[in-house]
Amino acid sequence: MISVVPKPAPQTPGWQQLSADEQSVYLSLDPARLPRHIAIIMDGNGRWAGRRSLARFLGHQQGAESVQFVVETAARIGIPWMTLYAFSLENNLRRPRTEVGFLMKLLKSYLTGNIKRMHDNNIRIAYIGRIKELPADVQETMLWAQESTARNTGTTLTLALNYGSRTEMVDAMGSVLAVRLRQAKAAGLSLDDIIAHPPTLDESDLASALYTAGMPDPDLIIRTSGEQRISNFLLWQMAYSEIYVTDRLWPDFRGIHLLEAIQNYQQRERRFGGLGESKDGPQSLPDGL
Ligand code: FPP
Repeated sequence: MISVVPKPAPQTPGWQQLSADEQSVYLSLDPARLPRHIAIIMDGNGRWAGRRSLARFLGHQQGAESVQFVVETAARIGIPWMTLYAFSLENNLRRPRTEVGFLMKLLKSYLTGNIKRMHDNNIRIAYIGRIKELPADVQETMLWAQESTARNTGTTLTLALNYGSRTEMVDAMGSVLAVRLRQAKAAGLSLDDIIAHPPTLDESDLASALYTAGMPDPDLIIRTSGEQRISNFLLWQMAYSEIYVTDRLWPDFRGIHLLEAIQNYQQRERRFGGLGESKDGPQSLPDGL
């Protein structure tokens, strides 16, 4: 007798807009266990260009195309949060000014050129990073894109720009400290009082002062181009993220590769420091303990 395994019912209407290849991977996924938040370290633009004897900037340009393909696939399958590492503080400090200038121009043209597609796919745009240090004209376009997509209710696409995770933590600690000192002053406490009874802090105090306040931690972190590094990205937030590294260079990464990463993620057992489903081994303590 042939037993028929029912396919999981797709949950989002948008899945029908996936390509045929994407649909076949999507149908193998469990829609109830999709990651809520996927973060991507987009790497390999320069190598992609180098392998074709092209200038580096063409790799970035092709990388911006990948950004749109990938976020649209995420939106079609109903991923609520996607965060992309588009420009790090270190990129800003250590790359030639011409490359930084090109990336800024590319960001502006990406935002203006794709705003209609963002609306068509119900995508909301947000940012994390030291945005105020970016050129004023770039900030202006960023703000415009953020405001004009603010009422979209599908995927939130967060672009990490001029972002560094250690700096994010330093900024968060600074703002927690400032709030605590203001509270102490308002309560009439002296420095001696504060030293005698230092304010208590817990994880949620710091989490709610990070740039990512209000966002869930990433369930899945993807890094392209094969490097096994985190590169100062979401260090606090990725405490229990699953990490997926692919050799594929970012400009070659498409929606189907996102779905394959999710397929791989769904084969993992997340334990969050506990024992999870398979509790192999003795369950009782050895004699004498
Ligand atoms: C890493 O490639 C990628 C970056 C430094 C920037 C990421 C930018 C984009 C994907 C394009 C623009 C994005 C938006 C949102 C418009 P690399 O240059 O370090 O590559 P390499 O390691 O091969 O040299």
